[in-house]
Amino acid sequence: MNLIWGRQPKPNMGKLDFTATVSKLAQDELGKRQHYRPVYSLHKYWARRAGSQFRSILLRTLLPDSTLFLQDEDGSLSVKSKYFDNFDFKNKVILDPFMGGGTTLIESNRLGCNVIGWDLNPLSWWITREGLKVIDVDILQKYTDEVFEVAQNELDEFYKTEIENSNGDLVKADVMHFFWFREAKCEVCEKEVSLHSRTILNKGLKRNIGISSENPATTVCLRCGDLGEWNGFGDFDCKSCNSKSDPLSKGVSSGSFECCGKKQKVVENVKKYGRLKERLVAIEYIDPDTKQRLYKSPSKDDLRIIKQCKSLVEANKNKLAIPNSKIPKGDSSKRWLNHQYERYVDVFSDRQILAVNSILESIKSVIPIDDIEYRYSLITALSNSLEYNNMMVPYNYPHRKLHHLFTHHALPITMMPVENNLLGIEGKGAGTFRNCVARYLKGKKYCNSPFDKYKNAQNKLVSVDSDERIGATFVDDIAQFGDSNASILRCGDSTRLHEHVPEKSVDYVITDPPYYDSIHYSELANFFYVWMKEFCPEVDFFSRETIDSTKEAIVNKGHNKGAKEYTDLMAGVFSSCHKVLKDNGKLVFTFHHKKIEAWWTIAESLSRAGFCVVDTFAVESEYKVNPHIRNKETLDMDLVLICEKIQSTEESPNPSKNIFTPLEEMASEKHTNPNWHYLQFIGSLLRETTRCYNSSVVNYKWFEDLINQFNIKQTV
Ligand SMILES: C[S@@+](CC[C@H](N)C(=O)[O-])C[C@H]1O[C@@H](n2cnc3c(N)ncnc32)[C@H](O)[C@@H]1O
Ligand SMILES: [Zn+2]
Ligand SMILES: [Zn+2]
Repeated sequence: MNLIWGRQPKPNMGKLDFTATVSKLAQDELGKRQHYRPVYSLHKYWARRAGSQFRSILLRTLLPDSTLFLQDEDGSLSVKSKYFDNFDFKNKVILDPFMGGGTTLIESNRLGCNVIGWDLNPLSWWITREGLKVIDVDILQKYTDEVFEVAQNELDEFYKTEIENSNGDLVKADVMHFFWFREAKCEVCEKEVSLHSRTILNKGLKRNIGISSENPATTVCLRCGDLGEWNGFGDFDCKSCNSKSDPLSKGVSSGSFECCGKKQKVVENVKKYGRLKERLVAIEYIDPDTKQRLYKSPSKDDLRIIKQCKSLVEANKNKLAIPNSKIPKGDSSKRWLNHQYERYVDVFSDRQILAVNSILESIKSVIPIDDIEYRYSLITALSNSLEYNNMMVPYNYPHRKLHHLFTHHALPITMMPVENNLLGIEGKGAGTFRNCVARYLKGKKYCNSPFDKYKNAQNKLVSVDSDERIGATFVDDIAQFGDSNASILRCGDSTRLHEHVPEKSVDYVITDPPYYDSIHYSELANFFYVWMKEFCPEVDFFSRETIDSTKEAIVNKGHNKGAKEYTDLMAGVFSSCHKVLKDNGKLVFTFHHKKIEAWWTIAESLSRAGFCVVDTFAVESEYKVNPHIRNKETLDMDLVLICEKIQSTEESPNPSKNIFTPLEEMASEKHTNPNWHYLQFIGSLLRETTRCYNSSVVNYKWFEDLINQFNIKQTV
């Protein structure tokens, strides 16, 4: 067997182990993507792999015999490593049939390769295109300043609140956040019941020191609505109404609330009375004198602005960009639908709708249509800001900042939503349009002068500048490819890509496919898509109401897709790749899953498409939560699978016999991550399965038994 990657000779003097170094690079990057590889922060995409992981995979594929990582005397990764060289691979074609956030294509383009990317998700196509397009950052910066100015004038009145200054005069202050509590209606007394998870809004104005009498938490009095201070012990005594309450008690627990002595389920309540209502309970503003961030309860004027926004939206509803698309059924959207959010517009406040529209209009009025790519840049930043600007965003109260919507790759119901200042205040806050534009600019600057960062043996950050560039010439057809840096991007089903890409024209297929049932890409992406179709109705790929997920390779009960449908679609995509791949080409991809069935679907779809696994290696991939437990719920390591076209299949009488051998050889190798041995085993199992797929003993039962045997061996 030709094992080239996974089990290499032990690192010798001056050389670092490939997989350990890739894991380390990926781990460092994933915690701080914005600083390490800012091009991946132009817009949200889910479960992006690390750019360094894909650069390593690409180099390892393009330069199979080189040592990529050298070691300095102190054990650090050396800046003289081949990994940091400047490359310009000519006449190499890399295909990614599941391009997602564009990691493979962006890293391949940086290495000079010609790239072809397909994804059925229009948002993936858009984001990858934004990453690869060439723009002049100075021109964008100039437009940006003008857009901010125009939008600021438009939006000022909606994000101001009246406060009394130290002289007792009423003055206007900038609002950072509006805090809301969701409420249900008690079926006995028919009064509104607050569903908060606590009434404190922070852990004191100073972060990280805890609540005390010197640093009291700001709390809402549910009885009278006023705000007060709580020093962390006992009940909160409201000075305004003399009531006592426990600021840490919840209004809702495990989906139920209690009123009039009766426990009531929230979803049942919603069925009876309709969507939960929201009540504005507090405002965080910037004190114009001290510049401190303070809190107040809403005044009549604050409530008037909300009414004003509502009537403005109502009066202009035919002119405004409003995401009226219905939320389609699906496993991830279920929660929103159960709470009677029927259209995407339902998770936005009127103020948010108006603010998005003002910014959109400002972009269009400042940037002429001839400079459409610059418009699109700011529209991308605007779309990205929606993740932090909707009525499901929670507040990270100890840190006094916003969370984003997709913390758990799902669509959540938030009982204490916080409404951000959408345009944002210069130098303040998170997730504002200003912040998202700053990130975008940083990302595009990175394209013009990329770098690689890593932590050395002393845990110091090292940054290595590169003379490579990220930027593509977009073409429609492979015949238009020059030597390097050209790109074909398509939004479409990859089971049919061979109808558009010539036979045997691709050197390597390098990808990160959907992982079985892990993330429902199209369901999550619809959240942005429904806005993008309003922002850019001229773009053909945005013509549908929501994303067409018919051909999405995924296990999703809500879409009636199980293992069979997933396997068929994966086999379809792999077959299409097989046709366009050169005979000596390779298919390399990452995968991880806790379920045995998921691994079997990979073995099956590869075999059906005519591929066999020739080697595998495991790298740490996701941002680590707990490194020491082999967590059966999630795998924090990816298996990288290297596949080739099957030349001849073997009729092996006993395919099981080779499976445990590599493992026994590796038994002496210590690894801090317990998942590593498991993935090494899965790797050798996949090699045997795809090599002997036609053998009469190879079936799911056989596969499952072997994994169970492995698990028993591991526990003894
Ligand atoms: C895991 S993501 C790719 C992540 C990406 N490599 C990254 O780093 O961001 C998988 C992608 O496969 C796409 N997909 C699923 N089925 C597809 C199909 N039949 N044709 C094309 N794309 C498909 C999904 O839309 C999703 O964007
Ligand atoms: Zn009641
Ligand atoms: Zn009170």
